[in-house]
Amino acid sequence: MNNFQYYNPVRIVFGEGQIEQLSDLVPNDAKVLITYGGGSAERTGTLDEVRKALATNGNREVFEFGGIEPNPEFNTLLKAADMVNEHNIDFLLAVGGGSVIDGSKFVALVSSLTEDDNADRTVSREKAWDALLSGCANIDTAIDLGAVLTIPATGSEMNNGGVVNHSERQAKLPFRSPLVFPKFSILDPTKTLTLPERQVMNGVADAFVHVMEQYLTYPVNAKVQDAFAESLLKILIEEGAAVKADPENLETRKNIMWTATMALNGLIGTGVPQDWTTHMVGHELTSLHSIDHARTLTILLPSVLRELKESKKDKLLQYARNVWAIDSNSDTKQDDDSIIETAIVKTENFFRSLGLPVSLADEKLDESAIDPIIKQLEAHNMVKLGEHGNNDLEVSRRILERSL
Ligand code: NZQ
Ligand code: ZN
Repeated sequence: MNNFQYYNPVRIVFGEGQIEQLSDLVPNDAKVLITYGGGSAERTGTLDEVRKALATNGNREVFEFGGIEPNPEFNTLLKAADMVNEHNIDFLLAVGGGSVIDGSKFVALVSSLTEDDNADRTVSREKAWDALLSGCANIDTAIDLGAVLTIPATGSEMNNGGVVNHSERQAKLPFRSPLVFPKFSILDPTKTLTLPERQVMNGVADAFVHVMEQYLTYPVNAKVQDAFAESLLKILIEEGAAVKADPENLETRKNIMWTATMALNGLIGTGVPQDWTTHMVGHELTSLHSIDHARTLTILLPSVLRELKESKKDKLLQYARNVWAIDSNSDTKQDDDSIIETAIVKTENFFRSLGLPVSLADEKLDESAIDPIIKQLEAHNMVKLGEHGNNDLEVSRRILERSL
């Protein structure tokens, strides 16, 4: 196991009816900006519950900013950042999924990047863009934020990262800062019952691939992380099928919600090499073709595993054995290559069973899509991906070709 520090200060408040805890969790005298997405939070009554809880104690002043898109848009977020400065907001409350939470983290970070000599404290678009280009690494102050999670998928509710999309620049870029760990996140699994099936399945797949990015590399004898990761994968396989068969089952929803949070709260990634090739190439697919985040991952992951099967061989065999119970000692003894291929095919079948694409063709793309993706990867300096840092543009091209 490699050296590591693990720090996660996010208070998780889990369970039905827990939104009312906001009356204690948000400071009594805060100037709060509730941020939300395209309307689901209003439609489902979640926003009303939030408003009511915030009005219960104390003396809070509450403002609202709606319209944060899936794959949150830079320009929209800067409008929210201007609102933060206009009203001297000191607490952001994100009500939604990864997009709203990520977007609110970005707002929390960039609202201090105002134009020079500007009395109304408008945020500088250039400074904010430069900050995103450098992953927000150099920002040393942020507004406090909390989250009410309505879709289990990204882990944003318990981590310090986010991804922001800039459509005009065709760029979807990640950022990270210890300043944007939420102060708390409320996880009420009943809130996920209103999700369309497509979003439920996207969430299961996103969480699955988060685990794979941190697990399917090479062994460093990290037994806790490996066993934990394998358990999360097995739960997602089981509960993915269960939620498809019985979407109203709240116990299933609870397990999916907590699993997705655990998949990317830093724990299983401590002290182990991590990959993230699937995600970085996937971001380009979203920004060029507006494919849902999770669906880019299910298209690419099987090809990443096939293309890199030599360097990932030990872990692929471990994955086959411990997650898919493919027994190398059985009578019908298979060689390593066929064990690995069987595990990858099982992974594809799992994605398919959730209604997710496993090839570019499934999303109506052909080889003409590949050159522009490679160009964008180069423009965004995604030229040394993977746990060994040697997935260059040629490797990414081969991965995409395998995904046709
Ligand atoms: O916008 P509204 O109307 O709210 O509708 C949303 C949206 O259309 C809807 N929705 C959310 N909760 C609902 C609901 N509909 C009915 N009932 C509910 N309870 O679901 C749609 C998708 O929402 P979104 O927030 O976009 O989904 P998700 O949580 O999958 O977030 C995806 C974003 O997170 C980023 C992705 O790149 C993408 O931009 N990621 C963030 C990560 C992180 N911070 O660590 C890691 C991930 O790898 C991921 O990259
Ligand atoms: Zn993801």
